Order: sequence, then C-alpha cells, then structure tokens
Amino acid sequence: MLIGEEQLISRVKEIAEQINREYDGREIYLLCILKGSVYFTCELSKHITVPVKLGFMSVSSYGDRMTSSGAVVIDQDTDLHVKGKHVIVVEDIIDTGRTLCFLLRMLAKREPASLKLCTLLDKPSRRVSDVQVDYVGFEVPDTFVVGFGLDYAQKYRNLPYIGELVFKEEQ
Ligand code: IMP
Ligand code: MG
Repeated sequence: MLIGEEQLISRVKEIAEQINREYDGREIYLLCILKGSVYFTCELSKHITVPVKLGFMSVSSYGDRMTSSGAVVIDQDTDLHVKGKHVIVVEDIIDTGRTLCFLLRMLAKREPASLKLCTLLDKPSRRVSDVQVDYVGFEVPDTFVVGFGLDYAQKYRNLPYIGELVFKEEQ
C-alpha cells in the first residue's frame, strides 16, 4: 500500500475546496476520463459546492499494458458541449503525459472558456510530453500503481487505496 483510503479522501477534499474557491460564482464541467478517473471524479464531485456538470470521455492510447504510445484514439466522446464553459479534465495519473497532451489540444479546439487539468496522481519523473497540471493529488515514484480506479489489465480498480504492483519475479 502506497496511499491509504483516509489519506486519499482527505486530499481529494482539499482539492475540491481549492476548486470551490477558484471557481466561486461560476459553473464548472468536470470531464472524467474513463475508466481510471471514475472513483476520483465521484469523490471529488461530492465535495464541490459550485454548480457542476459531469461529463465522461473514453480514450485509449495504444501501447503495451504498462505504458502509452502517444497514438491516442477517442473511443467515446462526451455529450457535454464545452464551448464557452469552464472545463476541468479529471485524470487518474499522468505518466509520460502523451495522452493528456493529445486530449488537451483536442479539447482546446472546442473553445472552452477555460481548460484546466486535475490529476489524482502524477509521475513527473516519467514525463515525455510537456503538460501543465493545475491540480495534483499526490506525486508518486516511478512504480506501477493500482487501485482507486487505476488498473493493471483491467483489474484492481476497485481497491479503496493506491497500491504498488509487485510482480512475482520481483518478490
Ligand atoms: P500517459 O499518456 O503516459 O501519461 O499515460 C497515462 C495513462 O496511462 C493513464 O491514464 C493510465 O491509464 C495509464 N497509466 C500510467 N501509469 C500507470 C500506473 O502506474 N498504473 C496504472 N495505469 C497507469
Ligand atoms: Mg488506464
């Protein structure tokens, strides 16, 4: 275990409070990037007090199970019309940054009033593409993590904490 459930939830509350302060008097669109950000988006939105709409988008980036390649494809687009709206993209983890770099460029073309990025986890040591992250839950070391939405081959998303995946041959 790397980050426990209580620690996760209290940090998510802090981020929500920061968003509430910064967006006071405005409506926000939280754009959840499926599937990894579902748990984070739900927890975050519970503590948001400004008017909020939720959108979901599914993207896949071809690569192996452990890393992305940068060839990003939209599998399912959001039904929210973001033009003129204050959009916060909610991600589970930023690793190389390739997925987000593509996604933010694409969303910017839809002309939102503002576009910010919120990630639960950040692995800055692995960055290849430069992305500006506005809200970060925790920085994590260069290890493969699962839980609270994050998967390995679609498993372990339902763990209530963030764990480091240890492969058998490493034990
Ligand atoms: P990026 O394009 O390299 O930044 O990849 C971001 C995506 O890779 C995330 O949305 C995750 O789906 C996946 N990913 C990167 N690192 C991890 C990890 O440690 N655990 C689980 N998924 C990860
Ligand atoms: Mg993923």
